[in-house]
This record gives sequence, C-alpha cells and structure tokens, in this order.
Amino acid sequence: MKPKIAVCGRIPAPALVALREFADVWAWETDEVPSVEAVHEGVRGVDAILSLLTTKVDDALLDAAGPSLKVVSNVAVGFNNIDVPACARRGVVVTNTPGVLTDATADIAMALVLMVTRRLGEGERVIRSQEPWQWGMFYMLGSSIQHQQLGIIGMGDIGQAMARRAKAFGMTIAYSNRNRVSTEIEAELGATYLSMDELLATSDVVSVNCPYSSATHHLIDAVQLAKMKKSAYLVNTARGPIVHEAALVDALQSGVIAGAGLDVFEEEPKVHPGLLACENAVLIPHLGSATVETRTAMAMLAAKNTIAVLSGGAPLTPIPVPK
Ligand code: GLV
Repeated sequence: MKPKIAVCGRIPAPALVALREFADVWAWETDEVPSVEAVHEGVRGVDAILSLLTTKVDDALLDAAGPSLKVVSNVAVGFNNIDVPACARRGVVVTNTPGVLTDATADIAMALVLMVTRRLGEGERVIRSQEPWQWGMFYMLGSSIQHQQLGIIGMGDIGQAMARRAKAFGMTIAYSNRNRVSTEIEAELGATYLSMDELLATSDVVSVNCPYSSATHHLIDAVQLAKMKKSAYLVNTARGPIVHEAALVDALQSGVIAGAGLDVFEEEPKVHPGLLACENAVLIPHLGSATVETRTAMAMLAAKNTIAVLSGGAPLTPIPVPK
C-alpha cells in the first residue's frame, strides 16, 4: 500500500510530482490559506504532512492526523508554526528547509537596507502619485552605507550571507549571536562580535536575522530601540514578533531611530496601521524566499525529507529533537 501524504498549501509542481510518484497525495491546490477544518480533514490518517509557514502544526492537527503520522516537513526554514515538543511526544520527525533560501533572503535584507537608507519607497510613492517633483541638490537625500556599521543579530547562514553582501557594499560588520562564529568566518567577513547592547549602540543599520522563539519574542522593544542611534535603521527579514511593532511605530514617529525596512510583521498579514503612515518605513509582504527557483528548491527539499523518512531513512535536514 502506498503511503499517504497531505500537502497543506500550494507548492511548486516538481515537488508535487515527486510526491505523487511515491504516495497518495491530498494537496490543497489554491493560493488561499486553507481553513483549519479543511487541513484537519486533509491530514486524517496520513503518514506525512508538508506544512507551509501558514500551517499551524499543533496538538489539534497532530490528533487529527492520528498515529500513522511519521513526519512533518515544513516548507520554510523558520518553524515557529510547529509545536516541535508536541511532535516529539508523538515520535513525529520534523524537518525544515535551511540552506536553499539563504541567498534569496539575504538579497531581500540587503534590498531593504538600500531601500530604507536611500528612501526608495518614498521616491516610488512620489512618482506613482504623480506629485510634482524636480531634481534638486537637496531633494530626497538619504544616507550612504559605505563605512557604516551593519549590526547583525543572529549570525547563522542568512546573517552571514547578509554580511557578505553588506561587506561588498563597503559596510563594516558587527554581530551578536548566542555563540561566536568561528575565527575563520569572523576573519572572512571582517566581523566583530559584540554584546547586543554594544551592537545596538554602535550600528548604523541593525538587521534582525535570528530565529523566532519564546527567547526572541519582542527581543527588540522600546528599551532596545532607545539604545540605537537616532540616525540608525532597523531591518527585519526574520519573523515579525521579534520586534515589538507598536514600539517600533513610536520610535519611527518620534525620531528615536531614522527608519525601518520590514519584510515580516507581528500579526501577518495584518500590519500595524501606524506603520502605514510612516514615510520612513519600507514595508514588503514577506518576500524573503519568494523567487521561483528558491520556492521550488524549498518544496523539493521538503519532498525529499518526506520521502526519506517514509522510506525508513534519515531526513536530510531534521530539526533537532527538543530535550
Ligand atoms: C520564511 O520565512 C522561512 O522561514 O522559510
């Protein structure tokens, strides 16, 4: 008998083809996020679930799937949508998609640095609104990033890829992380390890690149924002709730910091209304990994993880089982 797999959102065709060759597949095939009821119905009795970051994998979903479930393969590197301990209690393996989205996400982070420091969102709004404008010596001046310090919070793969890009643009690199990266990587990136306080106080751009967990919930709040330079910018391409969005709105409105570039929001797809009114905020709708190539690679990796586990092998990119 073929195994059963539930795919909880639309994924690129090559991954679906690979899964269908191997198993009986129930797949949600439209771009809307399925209702919880539809997902619970779809996962009933399956051996594997491919979850998207909009799929809440909690006790209720795991119960709906039942005891046949062996693996949850998240089509994302972040896995805060998954109750990993609940999976572990049931012996369900959890996998994610590290590596394949590193460059795409670092590209978006760097794009946000350029957009916010050079006021590109504002500029685009002027053109599109057909407001009169004229080249001028002092018109819409931004800040140069050369010789400015980029402070990276979270020096994993994406943080390092971001550092490489920023270095190529002439920035100097500082970082703060749970652990220091190797001296080879520090040397390659010219990166200085700082405490969070030092990083916030000295950086011209702060980029959030760490995973979201209870430990990083509201890591950047009013107190931390107040430690930043008035001329500094904040960029977040990780997860919305790492930044206290209401506090950020206050900081942007009152000049505590100069601007922000955000790809992620606290309650996606909602965006704090205060942010919409901030000219000094660049806001984009969670596009970090949104290229055809990257999304295809993510879905293929999730499919390979699923097939590996259901074939009795080891997954390629498992999430460590919590202790
Ligand atoms: C995207 O946000 C991801 O975690 O893959």
